[in-house]
Amino acid sequence: MNGSRLPVPRHVAIIMDGNGRWARARGLPRVMGHREGMKAVREVTLAAHRLGIEVLTLYAFSTENWKRPRDEVDFLMALPQEFLQTELESLIQNNVRVRVMGDPNPLPPHTRAAVEEAVRRTAANTGLILNFALNYGGRMDIARAARKLAESAVAGEIRPETIDEAAVAAALSTAGLPDPDLLIRTSGEMRLSNFMLFELAYTELWFVDKLWPDFRREDLEAAVEAYRRRDRRFGGLG
Ligand code: FPP
Repeated sequence: MNGSRLPVPRHVAIIMDGNGRWARARGLPRVMGHREGMKAVREVTLAAHRLGIEVLTLYAFSTENWKRPRDEVDFLMALPQEFLQTELESLIQNNVRVRVMGDPNPLPPHTRAAVEEAVRRTAANTGLILNFALNYGGRMDIARAARKLAESAVAGEIRPETIDEAAVAAALSTAGLPDPDLLIRTSGEMRLSNFMLFELAYTELWFVDKLWPDFRREDLEAAVEAYRRRDRRFGGLG
């Protein structure tokens, strides 16, 4: 440690966990935890914007989340629409650009339409990129990248020996974004849960016990402060 502090992370990724437990602790249905979690999304997005973070990636729905009860899936699929109905104007005013990663095909039309509208209406914004992982899985994304590269090779557009790490990165759904500098997971769980498996190779990890609906601006600031005191070596000696 040389005492100098890292700059604010360019890219922060968050696994928003603990909505169900938050609701259960209050005797409420699980979905009420998701609704409360949406409020935390709003607060943390504005806090990220104020901190000067460039990209905020939020794990909103994984490829495994379809296994949940139908009612809960339906509720989760309605949240982007609900969120964007109330927040889109404020996101536009704050120069936030909405982006989505994941397979949109199985999403219900109302979910796709809401997200596509947000992406379109914020496309010219130049501030914080708010990147929703929606029907996203890290392994699926790597498999899709492999398929895309194989198709290009078969079509004679690229030679297999030119496929390097940068080529794989450019074929992922995070193409063009810096790798996350900081990953936050709430609710005390210490797993990656199939999130950004390629991109997290050198990411600093930060686990907090708080449940996602209780996560506030100060918690993001504390995570960023802790990150800035870390000593990143990327496999070297620093
Ligand atoms: C994990 O908690 C949370 C999710 C699977 C959904 C995350 C979604 C939100 C926070 C709202 C998204 C908002 C927008 C705007 C898209 P869990 O249900 O697994 O909690 P548990 O582990 O306590 O059961």
